[in-house]
Amino acid sequence: MSADPSAVPVRAMLVLGTRPEAIKLAPVARTMAGGDRFEPIVVTTGQHREMLEQMLGLLCVDVRISLDVMRNRQQLSDLTARLMGSLGDVMRDQRPDLVVVQGDTTTALAGALAAFYERIPVAHVEAGLRTGVPDNPFPEELNRSLIARIARWHFAPTARAARHLTDEGVSPEQVFTTGNTVIDNLLWVLAEGAGTSAFRASGARRILVTLHRRENQGERMRGMGRALRGLAGRGDVEIVLPLHKSPAVRDVLLPELAGQNGISLVEPLGYLDFAATLAECDLVLTDSGGIQEEAPSLSKPALVLRTTTERPEAVEAGAARLVGTDPEVILGAAEELLDDPVAYRRMACAGNPFGDGRAAARVLARLTEDFAAEVPVPLTSPGPYSAA
Ligand code: UD1
Ligand code: UDP
Repeated sequence: MSADPSAVPVRAMLVLGTRPEAIKLAPVARTMAGGDRFEPIVVTTGQHREMLEQMLGLLCVDVRISLDVMRNRQQLSDLTARLMGSLGDVMRDQRPDLVVVQGDTTTALAGALAAFYERIPVAHVEAGLRTGVPDNPFPEELNRSLIARIARWHFAPTARAARHLTDEGVSPEQVFTTGNTVIDNLLWVLAEGAGTSAFRASGARRILVTLHRRENQGERMRGMGRALRGLAGRGDVEIVLPLHKSPAVRDVLLPELAGQNGISLVEPLGYLDFAATLAECDLVLTDSGGIQEEAPSLSKPALVLRTTTERPEAVEAGAARLVGTDPEVILGAAEELLDDPVAYRRMACAGNPFGDGRAAARVLARLTEDFAAEVPVPLTSPGPYSAA
């Protein structure tokens, strides 16, 4: 009698390297670890060091293999080269049945490309986000477009993201709309409920700010700093800004904002504390991707300090506004929300278009079905000119 193939766990290598990848792959890793169909092999590349380590224990992710690729002020090409070499070695050594990557970081691109070179099929979580501008955000828009050329499974968070992929020629049979795993994680963390807000109980209006994008670094970020000083100058606000570890961010924001009344610059917050801080704030100003998804889930209006967004669902729902990078415009938009309760309520009540907290379960259901099939999972789909 032959052995039942579904009794042998599928070896799924989850490759992650930065804070948001840890947050958004944690629900997938936890769900795999909680069942018997998959053996999760979590590989951390260490593209981020402190900010990644800060997350993993809190999120109950068991790491199997840790690489150490981060360098101070790393350049994208050097980082990519280090990632490709070390991930290729790990994949050759482990021979997983599939590789799972998330989003659009350099780790995600290198993970997908290294898997392709090893002829291992790739599942892409949070597939299909697009601004349509190849260098904005930089380099993420290109990274995620390239991953779409490689992946076998495309797990799109929204119907719009799924449409982007099919419009680009990905077979609809390989695209699955799941919701975003960030919502799974946020709901899980809020249920744990153990975080501490970084705001003081001051009675002031509470504004949570994060800034880090490469295309904002330099003059643009300096202007954003000036807008925050203007906002703090009102005297009725408390701004908390957890500073990204990137020296390119600190070089700009520390001279601009350190010691300013009404502004607290703090170290990156652990996820439980960040969720508690977000839950307590009145308003969010950010250039982050993940925070654009989390803020509407907690009914917090978000001003997006960028010239493009790949998450127009929040803008269309009315939960977020794309305000650009001009300091005067940023200041004006923030003051409007602080001073106009009707405008504020409209944004706060707009709702969350990013999922119901069951995205990881949908990802696993799909993978389970495909790995239960008798035929081996192909690396790619047949093209229009393939022989039958
Ligand atoms: C990267 C991702 C970006 C994501 C962001 C999340 C790429 C190309 N960019 O940003 O998509 O939104 O992470 O935060 O993959 N550093 C530390 N300790 C840390 C982390 C960073 O010291 O824990 C410093 C290092 O000097 C490092 C620098 O920050 O060289 C920049 O890190 P990097 O991962 O290159 O950041 P970004 O590309 O800006
Ligand atoms: N975050 C956190 N602590 C902080 C700032 C952010 O835990 O001090 C979390 C936040 O909840 C979100 C994620 O980090 O889920 C976003 O990461 P980041 O902004 O670095 O990257 P992006 O989402 O833009 O890729």
